Amino acid sequence: MVLVWERTFEMKGLILAGGKGTRLRPITYSMAKQLVPVANKPVVLYGLEAIVKAGVTEIGVIVGDTADAVREALGDGSRFGCQITYIPQPAPLGLAHAVQTALPFLGNDDFIMYLGDNLIKSSLEALIDEFRQHRPAATILLAEVEDPTQFGVAEMENGRVHRLEEKPRQPRSNLALVGVYIFSAAIHDIIANLQPSARGEYEITEAIQGLINTGQTVRSHIVQDWWKDTGDVAAMLEANRLILEGLDRLIEGTVDADSRIEGRVVVEAGAEIIGSVIRGPAIIGPGCKIERSYIGPFTSIDSHSVVREAEIENSILLAETSVVEVRGRISSSLIGRGARVRQTQQVPKAIQLVLGDSSQVELP
Ligand code: TTP
Repeated sequence: MVLVWERTFEMKGLILAGGKGTRLRPITYSMAKQLVPVANKPVVLYGLEAIVKAGVTEIGVIVGDTADAVREALGDGSRFGCQITYIPQPAPLGLAHAVQTALPFLGNDDFIMYLGDNLIKSSLEALIDEFRQHRPAATILLAEVEDPTQFGVAEMENGRVHRLEEKPRQPRSNLALVGVYIFSAAIHDIIANLQPSARGEYEITEAIQGLINTGQTVRSHIVQDWWKDTGDVAAMLEANRLILEGLDRLIEGTVDADSRIEGRVVVEAGAEIIGSVIRGPAIIGPGCKIERSYIGPFTSIDSHSVVREAEIENSILLAETSVVEVRGRISSSLIGRGARVRQTQQVPKAIQLVLGDSSQVELP
């Protein structure tokens, strides 16, 4: 009798929800950037759900200063059909450092790593299947971008990844590394010998380069659908637009006879629309009150916010904000939780501001 010993490789998930979030200040002074809502859902949930949908249910979540809020939002994972293990990273020393911190959780298993502020449209099943079939040391995703200097960039040779460089001044291609990777346990030996880069971080690009340098296989895929790294305000608004594009109309709240709802609009339960026009795609969260206002395309308004006599489009309003009696249209804006915007009645006309550190205001 011949016994065929076939090793099965478990796959775990690793979501990175630590980091500094400097590009998204002031929002990130008070909240985790991975919890900023895109179409009224914390951005990290899109990645988590995609991983679970691909059949990976044992998931580690790297957390930093905002650990408590991330734990509160994700819980033990049972709501999403997975088991979550929280892995505190003592300091945000880079993506490779996050992997090293997760080593006791990951052990010898393969893992799919997802940056908690990234969003990709394509599903992960095919990618994972292919990894299992070919068993490379790593599979990376690449996307063509306009300004590669902001990303990890891949140089290809004969269809293979030849060289990776983090935020190069003179990029050798326009192929950026997308924030989703699959690794075998081989990555850990490389990371163990990594030195910090010029910016003081343990770079995952250098670790992947280490795999290539030691003759191990790194496969790559070019993402055909969209991908967004929501690390700054413009990208966050763009991600919001992309997700809202896929919205289906659903009116659960109340809309009075003087209001008009045009196109793909979601009005969540308990929201009230009074004498207003809502032009989709747009989403109005539970408990919101929109009165005598115009809400234009690509706008997400999170729960219990109030908009009265104002016009807003292409914007994200977090929960419990209020925008009242504002002349002129608010556009391309990210308004933090509980923020209040209103027109002053004072004469002479003056602009009165109470702004947190690193706030941005653009006046007409
Ligand atoms: P980045 O956006 O590259 O880094 P950052 O969060 O420090 O942001 P900024 O550049 O604006 O200061 O991180 C990508 C993802 O990985 C993000 O979800 C945060 C997470 N992360 C960690 O969990 N640990 C880390 O050490 C780093 C650098 C990032």
